[in-house]
Amino acid sequence: MASTAQRGTWGSKAGFILAASGSAVGLGNIWGFPTQVGQGGGAVFVLIYLACVLFICLPIMVAELVMGRRAQLDPVGSFTLIRPASSWWLVGMLGVLAGAGILSFYSVIAGWSVAYIWYAATGAVTGDADAIGAFFGNFTANGPLSVGLALLVLATTATVLLGGVQSGIERVTKLMMPALIALLLILAIRAATLPGAAEGLTYYLRPDFSRLLDPSVLNAALGQAFFSLSLGMGAMLTYGSYLSKHESIITAALWVVALDTSMALLAGFIIFPSGFSIEGFDPSASGPGLIFAVLPRLFATLPGGQLFGAAFFILLTMAALTSTISLLEVPVAHFIDAHQWTRRKAVLLVTTGVFLLAIPSALGNGAVGVFSRLPGIGVDFLTLMATIWNNFALPVGGLLTAVFVGWVWRVDQAIEEVELHGAPFPARRLWSVLIRYVCPAAISVIIVYAVVSL
Ligand code: PHE
Repeated sequence: MASTAQRGTWGSKAGFILAASGSAVGLGNIWGFPTQVGQGGGAVFVLIYLACVLFICLPIMVAELVMGRRAQLDPVGSFTLIRPASSWWLVGMLGVLAGAGILSFYSVIAGWSVAYIWYAATGAVTGDADAIGAFFGNFTANGPLSVGLALLVLATTATVLLGGVQSGIERVTKLMMPALIALLLILAIRAATLPGAAEGLTYYLRPDFSRLLDPSVLNAALGQAFFSLSLGMGAMLTYGSYLSKHESIITAALWVVALDTSMALLAGFIIFPSGFSIEGFDPSASGPGLIFAVLPRLFATLPGGQLFGAAFFILLTMAALTSTISLLEVPVAHFIDAHQWTRRKAVLLVTTGVFLLAIPSALGNGAVGVFSRLPGIGVDFLTLMATIWNNFALPVGGLLTAVFVGWVWRVDQAIEEVELHGAPFPARRLWSVLIRYVCPAAISVIIVYAVVSL
């Protein structure tokens, strides 16, 4: 078992909050959330999403951070330490696999964002909606290019992890987050004044309650909430394991959830008004290309649009990188803690494995037919990966974590860890009820409902 000194701890509380929100804020907010809202019928998805964040994910965020800080180990080690000689370590293992699985398709989309820095800066993406859509289609159809870009993202992530996370990441995130928020605000204001903006805002804000009980919408909202908050796979548990015993877990959890949710909502205020200002725009038909098709049009309406566009994709890439770092850190921490690998060996081997798994996702958009329409399933490989991990693996991981903390480890142990050194735990009764009853029940109902209606 690696000692605490070897594992390292966060430099400061602000450093931890920034790193954890850096993990949470990423493609999930700016690319994933608007895409899901588009496919899930608009405002009703937003409402369900917010309910999932508040009543299911926030309590689980606290649970993961508490477990990590108590055990000071990777997910597998944490479950084992708290309940030795049981099968609970398998939940941690599911997280380790999810980290690699999610990173494999996430790095492909992050790679697209890298390429769009160049395209936006050079003004390559112009014309009407069809032309911009076709540009994205041609770009992603170039499989080898997507593979190369994903490799670039993975190699950069690996380099950061090799050097240790703290000084690099804490410093970069501190500069990046305010810049990203400021740019998103400017874009949202511009988007609100475009022709057609009102229609977009109506779509985004006025719920069509007929879809409230649609099992696929409920499932997608739950999965998206877990994904966006980096929950259900031990990323927050791992980050919590580097947290000092003197910091308040509750304030940290509230900060991360608030920041992540406002960034997602803000992205919607940009995409939908801009989208609806384009003639013939259909949010439900756009799929993964939504932001790559809509945003270049928005930049074209701005003075200095090329500059804005490039700045936007730079920030998006950086937001993605702080997330890829946490995704890779989960399996890496596991091999260091459980198998005493050196950090270097763990980083190199895990990154190679993830890269091999990323190839079919990168080739899925046309270059290799079999990956773009999987036989018998009918979707491309990237979409399949995203659905398996986000909609099922993460909620199931969250469900098992809630059951573990609520019933196996037991809430009084967790509360004791939160309240170490006199840190307050407001609403701890409410938290106990949510983690023991509401989270397990709600997640099981949604998952079962989604599976039977497949
Ligand atoms: N939360 C990240 C995002 O929104 C993705 C992520 C998921 C990161 C799970 C770590 C763990 O982009």
